Amino acid sequence: QMRNALNNLADTVENPDEQSRFENEMDSFFALFRRYLTDKAAGTTLDWEKIKSPTPSEVVEYTKLEDADKDATNLSKLAVLKLNGGLGTSMGCVGPKSVIEVRDGNTFLDLSVRQIEHLNRNYDADVPLLLMNSFNTDNDTAKIIKKYQGHRIRIKTFNQSRFPRIYRDSLLPVPTSYDDEVESWYPPGHGDLFESLVQSGELDSLLAQGREILFVSNGDNLGATVDVKILNHMIETGAEYIMELTDKTRADVKGGTLINYEGQVRLLEIAQVPKEHVEEFKSIKKFKYFNTNNLWINLRAIKNLVEQNAIEAEIIPNQKTVNVGSSEVNVLQLETAVGAAIRHFNGAHGVVVPRSRFLPVKTCSDLLLVKSDLFYLEHGALKLDPTRDGFSNPLIKLGSHFKKVSGFQSRIPHMPKILELDHLTITGNVNLGRGVTLKGTVIIVCNDGQRIDVPNGSILENVVVTGNLTI
Ligand code: UTP
Repeated sequence: QMRNALNNLADTVENPDEQSRFENEMDSFFALFRRYLTDKAAGTTLDWEKIKSPTPSEVVEYTKLEDADKDATNLSKLAVLKLNGGLGTSMGCVGPKSVIEVRDGNTFLDLSVRQIEHLNRNYDADVPLLLMNSFNTDNDTAKIIKKYQGHRIRIKTFNQSRFPRIYRDSLLPVPTSYDDEVESWYPPGHGDLFESLVQSGELDSLLAQGREILFVSNGDNLGATVDVKILNHMIETGAEYIMELTDKTRADVKGGTLINYEGQVRLLEIAQVPKEHVEEFKSIKKFKYFNTNNLWINLRAIKNLVEQNAIEAEIIPNQKTVNVGSSEVNVLQLETAVGAAIRHFNGAHGVVVPRSRFLPVKTCSDLLLVKSDLFYLEHGALKLDPTRDGFSNPLIKLGSHFKKVSGFQSRIPHMPKILELDHLTITGNVNLGRGVTLKGTVIIVCNDGQRIDVPNGSILENVVVTGNLTI
């Protein structure tokens, strides 16, 4: 039934070039769908008893890597890729997340570009920047990168796959034609990178330029700069895949972790953990590190694996309710993660990097942090203020009024000074003035229907502000 439905979809394409591309895409989707059904029937879950901590050779400390920082000749073998297929919906934005303004008028994308421009200037290199877009992000991204024509940077974009959402009950595709509305389709997660890189021709083009290694990271991770030490380590060890891990704190217990399973390194995600072991999974003791999604991958190995159809990353079924036409429908979208493919690569291992290489922006609380005086901008990279070195970042919790970037920007138009802040909680309709300093633990709770205005220049230190106070 699914095969027929996909064939019917392919019949709606008029342009012959488009048709063969679309047919390939539907073939890939069908393979994923079939694997989903087989896995579901077999009930393949990991055997908890067989899950071991990685061996010492599978997890290398960054500080133990040879300090070959000055030898940057390997940069001629490198290309950088930013995962850019996701939308900013979780932060209330309609467009791509990477176009959110982060710092001094720069978007995530601008900062990535600046980092690579600086790298190329500094080492007299020509490292290209690739963006893996999706049908959701391609147009808006094109507008932003247009301004970099003529700069010292080569930016290439390609689109990841566009797969049909399926009805949760019938498991049949939602779209009825090739050009059906946007809501009928989805980008199938960043695990789609391998297939899309090959299908788009970008992989062959990189190999033809002598590029051997791809440094991949999330578009919203401002700490993911090119690190020559890791690059050199990868080339010296001949590893085909390196995953940057970092120490888990109680704030990030949900991240995937590296394990040894029947002698093989694997990524273990919380979704794969049986309920009775979730607490153990979250513990900092047994699983000490988590995946930053900063990955170094050998391009030739990707080509071989894709050609052999050998990459089988665990499928993450994602249930959603979306508006198609004028009705709400319950859909399922089958996704994969790029980190899950680690087990297919030879010599794959983790490198435990400093926390500074993991600076993601998932919420407006994270946005406040990266916009604040805790960091300063250096050639597109965010650096922690030295006085804060050795301390963990303050814990910031902003309530639902700050869920959307627009709400955040209108209530906190000027970033408070937070160099001496440990903990901040703000809930309700709270508005910060200009030049506010927050120190220690500050809690501001405004009741429903009321409003708190924190005046310009206020210094709040270890205080709880509640009610309808105007301080
Ligand atoms: P996610 O939304 O998956 O972030 O996007 P996450 O919640 O931190 O999840 P994981 O643990 O990394 O999976 C991470 C990056 O992947 C891109 C997003 O644009 C973002 O940069 N992405 C996500 C894609 O490029 N394609 C997708 O289909 C999904």
